[in-house]
Amino acid sequence: MKITYNSFRLISYTVLFAVLLSTEINLAQQTNNSRRTTLFTRDWKFSLGDQTGANEVSFNDKDWRVLNLPHDWSIEGKFSKDNPATPSGGALPGGIGWYRKTFSLPESQKNKNIFIDFDGVYHNSEVWINGHYLGKRPYGYSSFRHELTPFLKFGKEKNIIAVKVDNSQQPNSRWYSGSGIYRNVWFVTTDKIFVDHWGTFVTSSEVSKTLAKISVRIKVRNSLSVERTVVVLTNILDNSGKKVTTVKSNVTIPATSVNETEQKIEIENPQLWDTEHQNLYKAITKIESEGKTVDQYETTFGIRSFYFDSAKGFFLNGKHLKIQGICNHHDLGFLGAAINIRAIERQIEIMKGMGVNAIRTSHNPPAPELLDLCDKMGIIVMDEAFDMWAMKKVEFDYSLNWKEWHKRDLEDMVLRDRNHPSVFIWSIGNEIPEQRDSSGIEITRELVSIVKNLDTTRPVTSNMDYTKPDNFLNKSGALDLIGFSYHQYDYEAFPKNYPNQKFIGSETTSSLATRGFYDMPSDSIRRWPIRWDIPFTQGNLQQMCSAYDNCSAPWGSTNEETWKLIKKYDYLSGMFLWTGFDYLGEPTPYTWPSRSSYFGIVDLAGFPKDFYYLYQSEWTDKPVLHIFPHWNWEKGKQVDIWAYTNCDVVELFMNGKSLGTRKQQPDVFHLMWRVDYQPGTLKAVGKKDGKEILTKEIKTAGAPYKIEAVADRKKIKADGTDLSFITVRILDKDGNLVPNADNLIHFDVTGEGKIIGVDNGLQTSHESFQANFRHAFNGMCLGVIQSTEKKGKIKLIVKSDGLKSASIEIVSSEEK
Ligand code: GAL
Repeated sequence: MKITYNSFRLISYTVLFAVLLSTEINLAQQTNNSRRTTLFTRDWKFSLGDQTGANEVSFNDKDWRVLNLPHDWSIEGKFSKDNPATPSGGALPGGIGWYRKTFSLPESQKNKNIFIDFDGVYHNSEVWINGHYLGKRPYGYSSFRHELTPFLKFGKEKNIIAVKVDNSQQPNSRWYSGSGIYRNVWFVTTDKIFVDHWGTFVTSSEVSKTLAKISVRIKVRNSLSVERTVVVLTNILDNSGKKVTTVKSNVTIPATSVNETEQKIEIENPQLWDTEHQNLYKAITKIESEGKTVDQYETTFGIRSFYFDSAKGFFLNGKHLKIQGICNHHDLGFLGAAINIRAIERQIEIMKGMGVNAIRTSHNPPAPELLDLCDKMGIIVMDEAFDMWAMKKVEFDYSLNWKEWHKRDLEDMVLRDRNHPSVFIWSIGNEIPEQRDSSGIEITRELVSIVKNLDTTRPVTSNMDYTKPDNFLNKSGALDLIGFSYHQYDYEAFPKNYPNQKFIGSETTSSLATRGFYDMPSDSIRRWPIRWDIPFTQGNLQQMCSAYDNCSAPWGSTNEETWKLIKKYDYLSGMFLWTGFDYLGEPTPYTWPSRSSYFGIVDLAGFPKDFYYLYQSEWTDKPVLHIFPHWNWEKGKQVDIWAYTNCDVVELFMNGKSLGTRKQQPDVFHLMWRVDYQPGTLKAVGKKDGKEILTKEIKTAGAPYKIEAVADRKKIKADGTDLSFITVRILDKDGNLVPNADNLIHFDVTGEGKIIGVDNGLQTSHESFQANFRHAFNGMCLGVIQSTEKKGKIKLIVKSDGLKSASIEIVSSEEK
C-alpha cells in the first residue's frame, strides 16, 4: 500500500489524538492538520504542602490526589480568622501546592514544536518537564507559555510535568486570590514554521457602514536552521462563516527567527460589533511552506469604531452610549478562583439583566474566557493590569516583583487581549500609591509607552482616587482618559479642573448591603464607619448592612448619588460601579466573622439585592416595578416602603386601602411611602401614560412550609463542566417567600450529575461551599449541579426537615 504524505499525517495525528484523548478531554480550541491546541486539564496529581524532589522524574506521586484542572485549593479549606490571608483575603488558607502530570507522545511528534500554555496560576509558579526547569512566573494573573520541545520523550517513555505553586507568603492580596492552577492549561503542537504565541493583531480603521479598512499583522516563527520563504494566506469569514475576502503574501524568514508581516484588507458593508450586535469576524491565516500547509491560525475580531469626547462622552460606531459598567473581581463565589465558563457566563447574564454594558476586570488581567464571552455577549471591557506598582499596598504583594516583571506582565496582557473587540480601555493600575509620589510621572510614561508600542487603538487610563490635577499620574501627561475613583463631589468641577480632558468613572459607588436586611429610617445615609452619623438602634447587627441603598463606604456613595450625576452630564462618559457581584474577601465595613464583601449589586450566590432593580429601571427598557422590603414586621412598626420603577406613577395599597400615589421626581430613582405596618397584603399598581401596566404584591408570610427549587437551565451539556444553578426559596403554605427562613437544605442528586457548590449569600457564613447542604439565608439558598461526561438524566431532590421537598429533573446531553 502506498502511504501518501497526507495519509501519513492523518495516521500520525490519529495516534496523537488517541494518546491525548486517553488522558484528556477532547476540547480542541484550534485543530487542523498542522496545529493542535488541546485542553490539558485532566488527571493531574496534586499534593498540598512542599515536597522535596517533586520536580524530579523519579519522585513517587502514587499517593497524591488525582484531580482535573482548573483547581483552587484555598476554596477547599476552612475559614479561619487565623489564616494569614486575613478576612480581607477571604480568611482561607494559602500555602504551597504541587501538581504533576504524566503523559506520553507518539514518535510521529518528534518533528513538532510543543508548548504548554497556562492561562493563570496563583502564584509564583515554577514548572519542570522531565526534571528540566522551565522557569518561574510570579504574577498569578498573567497567562504564559513554556516550550517543551527539547526535553520531551516519545514512544513508550513517559513525560512528567511538575508545577510548584507557592502562595505561602501572606497577605499578598487585598481580596481573595485563590491558590493553584486555577485557570485552563493548553497543550499546543505546531510544525517548525508557525504563527507565534499571540502572534496576530487585527485592527480596523476608517470604519463606516459601507467600508472598513482592516490590518492583519502576523508574526511567523521559523524554528528551522535554514531560511524559508512561505506563503501567508488569510481568509476573512463573517459572522455567519461566509468568506468575505482573501489576502496572500510571500514572506522570507531567516533561520530561527520571527518575521512580522502586515496584510491590508478592505471589507465592504461591514457588520459592525456593538453591545447589541455581537458581530464577530474570523481571520483564518494559513502558512504554506514548500507547497504544504504548515500552520493554520484563527483570530476572532470585531469591527467597530469608538472615541471619547471631553464634552460629550463616549461614542460607539458614531452613536452616543453611556458606559453602564461594573467592576468585578475574578472569584466565582462557591468555586473560588477556579474558572468555569458557565459560571462566568451566568455572572454576565445576571449583569446584563440589570442593564450593564461594561465590565472592569479589577484589578488584574482576567481569564481569557471572560473576554471571549464579553465579545459574544456585547460587553465593553476595561482590561486592568495592576493593583500596585513599585510601592506596596500589603506586605507580600506584587510590588516585590515589580522591577523584574512589570514590563513582561503588561506586554503579555496587551498581546493576549488586543484582538478582542470587547476590550476598549487599557488600565495600567488601580489607586496606585505613586499618585502621590513624584516617581509616578516616570512610571506612568513608561507603562503607557509599553502599551502604545503594542496597541495604539485604545485609550489608556489608570483608576485614581487622588483626583486632583496635581496627581503625579495626571502630571505625566501620558493618560488618555482621566479615571476617577469615587470623589463624585468633584465630578461637576471636572471640566474646570481638567479642561479638554476625557472622563471615565473607572470606579464608583461602593454601596454596602446584605440581601434582605433593612435598617430604618431608610432615608438617612450611613457612611460606614467614618461618617456614621445615624446612631444604630437595632439590637444584634450580626454584621449586616442595610439594603435600602442607604449605606455606603465613606469614600463612596449610594447608588442613586452617583448615577444621578453620571446620568446628568454627557461629559461623564460613564461609570464602573464597585461591584457587580459580592466577592470573597474585603468584608468592609466589618472584619471577621465576615469573610466576603457587601459591595455587590447581587450577593455572592448571584441573588439580586434590591438596588439591582434601580439599575434595571434606569438602564433597560423593560417595564420594572420592584417593591420592598418584605412584609413581616412587628405590628405598628413604622416601615418604609420603596419602589424601583420606570412607571410614571405608582399607587400603593395596604390591605386594599390606598396609601397614596407617588410620581417620579427628577434626580430621585425610588418612590417611598412611610406607613404603620399591618400584616396582610401590600399591592403596588404602576401606570405609564395613564395606563396601568404593572402590579406587584407582597404578602405577610406564615411559617415555612415548602421548598421551591428553580433551575436556571434544565438542559445542560454532558461535558463534565457545564452547570445548572438551582435557586431555592422557602415558602409558606400560600407560596409566599418566608423572608427570614434559615432552614437547613439538603441537595440529593442521582444520575449523570453532582452537586459541586452551595451558597446563600451571607457574608458571615462559615459553612463549606463544597457540601451538599446549606442553611437558607433570608429565605433563599443556591445549589449548583455539574454534569458528568455521560449523557443522561439528573434528578435532584431538595429537602429539609419539616418542609415539603421539591424535585427537578435536568437533562444532560451533547447539546447545551
Ligand atoms: C477602592 C479599591 C477597591 C476596593 C474598594 C472598596 O478604593 O480600588 O479595590 O477596595 O475601594 O470600596
